[in-house]
Amino acid sequence: MRRLDQLLANLGYCSRREARDFLRAHEVCGGDGTRLTQPALKVDPASIRIDGEPLDHPDGLLLLLHKPLGVVCSHDRSEGPTVYDLLPPRWQQRNPGITSVGRLDKDTSGLLLLTDQTALVHRLTSPRHHVEKRYRATVDRDLPPEIGAVFATGELRLDGEDAPCLPARYEALGPREAFLTLTEGRYHQVRRMFAAAGGATVLTLLRDRFGPLELGSLPAGEWRILSLDTFREPAPRS
Ligand code: URA
Repeated sequence: MRRLDQLLANLGYCSRREARDFLRAHEVCGGDGTRLTQPALKVDPASIRIDGEPLDHPDGLLLLLHKPLGVVCSHDRSEGPTVYDLLPPRWQQRNPGITSVGRLDKDTSGLLLLTDQTALVHRLTSPRHHVEKRYRATVDRDLPPEIGAVFATGELRLDGEDAPCLPARYEALGPREAFLTLTEGRYHQVRRMFAAAGGATVLTLLRDRFGPLELGSLPAGEWRILSLDTFREPAPRS
């Protein structure tokens, strides 16, 4: 059971202070259909209807976004248009807020997860969990045939870093195009790996897979809602 004003504020409908006015302006009903007008009332989120509609994802949100080029994975709007600007305004007011699972550069497009599940963000970005992320890159020169073996060694060092990159899987798609699958997420990692191993500059970069998820034909700038169970770990065997 949750306090109604807190619930409305957490889901982005209004601030706690505005809850009384919100309850006057909207028909907010409990499970038995009675209209609720007291902000301090304790309610079961699953039973609430607002103007006939159930609450907007009261248990949390997990989204798969096709991040377009030119937007940043930052909450700071001074850095330019952000991925959060692509979401409905109410979702931008939620608390806990929606955040990206790792980041893609401004000039990288593709599959980006967004969620308000903090523990999930930690789990999916932790190098310990080895979640595979696949990138499709085009580069400015022909790639040497041995580059796949270099990426696979787990010995490639990036400028200014002591720890070598974990082994990465390379699949050539053409002389200047390839998939690279990583299990970590360092700053500009794919661009720096191609520079370090092949002296190549990445011209285009798109992430098309994240763990078991694929971008598919989702258009740039659009998102789909995923089940919160998508990454649920199987219960330990007894
Ligand atoms: N590697 C990069 O260089 N950029 C990204 O956005 C993601 C991985």
